[in-house]
Amino acid sequence: MRNLALEVSDIDPPARSMPACAEFGESLLLALRSRPRRIAPKFFYDEAGSALFEAICALDEYYLTRTEVSILRQHAAQIAHLIGLRAEIVEFGAGSGSKIRILLDALARPARYVPVDLSVAHLDHAARALVHDYPGLEVAPLAADFTRPLVLTTHQPAANRRVGVFLGSTIGNLSLEEAHEFLGRAAVLFRGGGLLVGVDLVKDPAVLHRAYNDAQGTTAAFNRNLLGRANRELDADFDLAGFRHYAFYEPLAQRIQMHLVSARQQTVHVCQEEFVFQEGESLHTENSRKYTVDGFRALARRAGLTPGPVWCDPKQWFSVHWLASPPRPTPASSGAR
Ligand code: TRP
Repeated sequence: MRNLALEVSDIDPPARSMPACAEFGESLLLALRSRPRRIAPKFFYDEAGSALFEAICALDEYYLTRTEVSILRQHAAQIAHLIGLRAEIVEFGAGSGSKIRILLDALARPARYVPVDLSVAHLDHAARALVHDYPGLEVAPLAADFTRPLVLTTHQPAANRRVGVFLGSTIGNLSLEEAHEFLGRAAVLFRGGGLLVGVDLVKDPAVLHRAYNDAQGTTAAFNRNLLGRANRELDADFDLAGFRHYAFYEPLAQRIQMHLVSARQQTVHVCQEEFVFQEGESLHTENSRKYTVDGFRALARRAGLTPGPVWCDPKQWFSVHWLASPPRPTPASSGAR
């Protein structure tokens, strides 16, 4: 009997913690077991992480959000014209849903708005507010990971075409291969319509450095929240103060790299597994790639999209691209009998 009781209690803890160790747990364990240690940035965005990201967007140093918003405001009419009448708008990484309002205000009777985001809380909150503020607009939120192939529901019957919106230079958080894949899937998903993408541009490294190393330490808190999330969800015991936020720009690779660097030798546990961090050892948490206007257009073209107008701010710090996805050629127009 005693043995049996021991066995049961030995088995019990992992069984209880397994469901919580779902995708985030598996990815973090994989990251911690490999060298270099590196995890996908999508895991930043739990509720606390999403709130910290909103705070980043309001920082002085973080020019991206306000620059993109000013571009959208200034060119809303032309963008709305390209999107067209009664379009269905699918927004990736919709977040709090504040930017889409600029477009919704300019659009001619949008048929449906489909915000896609990982955070159900974000989606729910944003969808409620939009339904309230835009009577008659159909809002159909979709909790999904857009770094994977996406299944959309049937077309809204009254919609003329489907258009994608991908703002915030989130495309820069994907690797070149992932971005190419994403754009290729968008070309198929939005055939006959197009994709509107916000892309941060290559610039003075000092400006970039400031944007990812703000004086208040909000970006540092955002970065460390990944460890906090592991503590909350995965029974982990990271000492957040034992990891330093380290973000730097690589001009040759045209990207910011963001790391959490161990301040000392330490041992941590995640889902009952033990890991040692040497002093100076890092967990690579994110890349933020910067493009030139021409470099991004070339990438879009290789993925099967047709680059259209591009709008930038006067300093050329940020760009918004319209990428058309031409309709499938009809047999007649392609010359087949
Ligand atoms: N898409 C945002 C960006 O690349 C995400 C982000 C915000 C971020 N803060 C960050 C990425 C800090 C890396 C480091 O700017």
